[in-house]
Amino acid sequence: MTAWLGTDTFIEIIYLIATALFIFALVWMRTPATARRGVRAGEIGMLLAIGGTLLNHNIIEYKWIAIALVLGSIIGVPLGMVHMTAVPQRTALSHAFGAFCVTLVGTAEFYLRAPAVPPFMMSVLSMEVILGALTFTGSLMAAGKLQEILPQRPITYKGQNLVNLLLLAVAIGIAAYLVHDPSRVHLFPLMLIIPLIFGVLMIIPIGGADMPTVISLLNSYAGLSAAAMGFVLDSKLLIIAGALDGASGLILSVNMSRAMNRSFSNVLFGAFGQEAIAGATAQQARPVRSATAEEAAAILGAASKVIIVPGYGMAVAQAQHKVRELYDALSKRGVDVKFAIHPVAGRMPGHMNVLLAEADIPYDKLLDMEEVNDEFPQADVALVIGANDVTNPAARNETSSPIYGMPILDVDKARTVMVIKRSMSPGFAGIDNPLYYLDKTLMLFGDAKSFVNSIVHELAGGHN
Ligand code: TAP
Repeated sequence: MTAWLGTDTFIEIIYLIATALFIFALVWMRTPATARRGVRAGEIGMLLAIGGTLLNHNIIEYKWIAIALVLGSIIGVPLGMVHMTAVPQRTALSHAFGAFCVTLVGTAEFYLRAPAVPPFMMSVLSMEVILGALTFTGSLMAAGKLQEILPQRPITYKGQNLVNLLLLAVAIGIAAYLVHDPSRVHLFPLMLIIPLIFGVLMIIPIGGADMPTVISLLNSYAGLSAAAMGFVLDSKLLIIAGALDGASGLILSVNMSRAMNRSFSNVLFGAFGQEAIAGATAQQARPVRSATAEEAAAILGAASKVIIVPGYGMAVAQAQHKVRELYDALSKRGVDVKFAIHPVAGRMPGHMNVLLAEADIPYDKLLDMEEVNDEFPQADVALVIGANDVTNPAARNETSSPIYGMPILDVDKARTVMVIKRSMSPGFAGIDNPLYYLDKTLMLFGDAKSFVNSIVHELAGGHN
C-alpha cells in the first residue's frame, strides 16, 4: 500500500481518518447511548495517529521511541485502572504529562532553531511553551488537591490576583520581545520558568471542590498548547486535535460553571467554599423525620411512580448495582421508576450516567433535569440517594445562599421525599438543606449501598 501511494500520502490518509474519528468521538460522547462508541472511536483515532507518526521517514532510530512507549505504558496502564471517584485527579495527571511533553518539545524546537526563528514560528512556539508550562504545574497542583496530598482549602493573600496577572503579563512580554528579536536566547528560560510558577500560584487560591471545573479548563489549555505545537511541527493532525480538545474543554468548563450557577471568574478567583463551610458548622440542630428500611420499602412498594435522584454519595458508596436491584424489584411490581440526572451531580461531568450505565440501567430511564422536573409533581416518591446540593430548594428561594440561582432538581414537589445519607452533614457547597426539614421528607440514615440493600431485602419480603 505504501509503495503504491507513497509513504507521505499514506500517512496523510491515516491522519485524515484519525481526525474524522476524533470528531465522531466527540459527537458520540454527547449522549450515554452512543458514549461507548465515542470512546472506541477516540481510541482507534489515537492508535492511528501514533501509528502514522511512527511511519514518518524522519525517524532514524526507533530505540528511544520503544523505550518511551514501554515506560509510558508502565505508567499509563495502572493510571487507567483507578477507582471512578479518582478519575478527576487521574485526568489532571494526564494533562500534566501531555503539557510537560508539549513544553519539552517547544523548548527543544527553540534551541534547534535559535537564533533565527521567524516571527510566526516564535509566536506559536511561545504560546506552546507558556500554555504548556502553566498547564503542567497547574494540573499537578489540581491533582494534588483532589488527592488531598495538598491542602484543599483556598490559600489567599491580598493583591493575589494582581500578582498572578503581572506574572503572566511578564511572560507574554518576554514572548513578544523574543518574537521581535529571537537572538536574545538567554530570555527563553525566563519565559519557561515564569509560567511554571504561575501554574502553581493560579491554583492555590482555588478550593479543592472547584478542581473538576479547573481541570476541564486546564484540559482546554493543554489542547491549545498542543495546537500551537502542531504549527511548530507543521502537523495538521495536532492542530485539529488540539483545537478540538481546547474548544471542548472550554465548552465543558462553561457548562459546568453554568450548571453550578457560577461565573468563570468566580470559579477562578472566588475562593469558593470557605464562608459556606463556616456557615454550615454554625447551623443549629433542627428536628427531622427519619424512617427505617422496612418503612421505606413499604412506601416504595405502594407507589405507582418513583423518581430516583442519585448523587455523589451513591458514587462514594458504589451503590449503583444495588440501585439496579432496587429498580428491578420495583419495576417487577409495576412501579414506574425513573432516574433524575442533574448535570453536576457527583464530582465530574457525566458521573451519574457512567455509574448507572455500568449497572445497566436502561438509558431511556435516565432523564435530564429539564425533562424530569415537570414529572416530580406526579411522583409518589422522590428517592434521593447520596445527593444533596442538587436538590437544595435554597437555590430557588434564598437569595443569600451561596448556591442561589443554581438550577436544581425539584424533588420537593414530589408527594413524599426520602433521602438516603449517613448524617446531616452538608454536601460539596457546605450548606444546610431545607429539604430535610419538610413534613413530607423522611431521612433514611445510613450508607447508600447498605441502605438500598436493606430496602431491596424488605421488598423481597425479608427473604435472602
Ligand atoms: P453533594 O452535594 O456533594 O452531597 C453528597 C452527599 O452524599 C453528602 O451530603 C453526603 O452526606 C452523602 N454521602 C457521602 N457518602 C455517602 C455514602 N457512603 N452513603 C450515603 N450518602 C453519602 O452531592 P451532589 O448532590 O451530587 O452535588 C454535587 C455537588 O458537587 C454540587 O454542589 C456541584 O456543584 C459540585 N460539583 C460537581 C461537579 C460535577 S462536574 N459533577 C464538579 C465540581 C463540583 P453524608 O456525609 O451525611 O452521608
